Amino acid sequence: MTLTDHIQETTAFLRDRQPENWQPQAALILGSGLNQISTAMQDAVVIDYDEIPHFLRTQVEGHSGKLHMGWLGGAPTICFQGRQHLYEGPRQGIDAWTVALRAIRALGVDILFLTAAAGSLNKTMTPGSLMMVADHLNLTGYNPLVGPNDEATGPRFPNMGRAYDPDLRSWLLDIAIADNIPLVEGVYAGMLGPNFETAAEVRMLQTIGADAVGMSVTTECLIAHHCGMRVMACSAITNFAEGLSSIAPTHEETLEMAEQCSGRLTQLLFGFFESLA
Ligand code: HPA
Repeated sequence: MTLTDHIQETTAFLRDRQPENWQPQAALILGSGLNQISTAMQDAVVIDYDEIPHFLRTQVEGHSGKLHMGWLGGAPTICFQGRQHLYEGPRQGIDAWTVALRAIRALGVDILFLTAAAGSLNKTMTPGSLMMVADHLNLTGYNPLVGPNDEATGPRFPNMGRAYDPDLRSWLLDIAIADNIPLVEGVYAGMLGPNFETAAEVRMLQTIGADAVGMSVTTECLIAHHCGMRVMACSAITNFAEGLSSIAPTHEETLEMAEQCSGRLTQLLFGFFESLA
């Protein structure tokens, strides 16, 4: 079976299970500790990733692996609760995202909103902040678009100038201002992980223009942008990266801090999805 066959099977499976009178407009991927938003979904059909053919598999604590197809703030939305990371296994993570994101594109999704925990590379951006991704540095060493290109899906050589949709970004900034939610813009450096960065890597990332560092976002953005979705991403800043504070980053700390950011992020997302509806 080819990748295209897999995508078609996944799309057909989801179409079969989707709610009635529902045409998805947007999708949302929830990062570690950011699951609270899924409880705001209305009338959702919830399916375990394990049941969906060729779909994501999740293993990390804080990622439960459920797909919600319903409404968020009145907008027909698909919500991914739990993500697969590249560090879980070479290529598997990439192919699973390729299938999942191209399948939801085939269902009609236009906007993909990514959320993720990230470490701050900037002393003025303290843990607990929300950073909207304006651009990224893909330092994972992987690219999900490597391999034969299907021109019907997207171009061989996609340009990345508008990879994080400028119109949607300014829209979200307006919502943040109106709702009095502090939101800054910055550059996200995507690393393969699973280790947190060394102090030397952190200095390199600062030098090359990154504001925050994490282990997701870039892969999903590349796949989604390539197949024509408008992408936006918000990071919950959960910690200072190595060397910026006396506290060494840990997974437990990132989960705890993400949960603290979750309320404000939920409010922001809700406002955004409400304005879509
Ligand atoms: N580095 C990489 N990924 C992360 C971090 C970090 O400091 N915090 C949350 N995700």
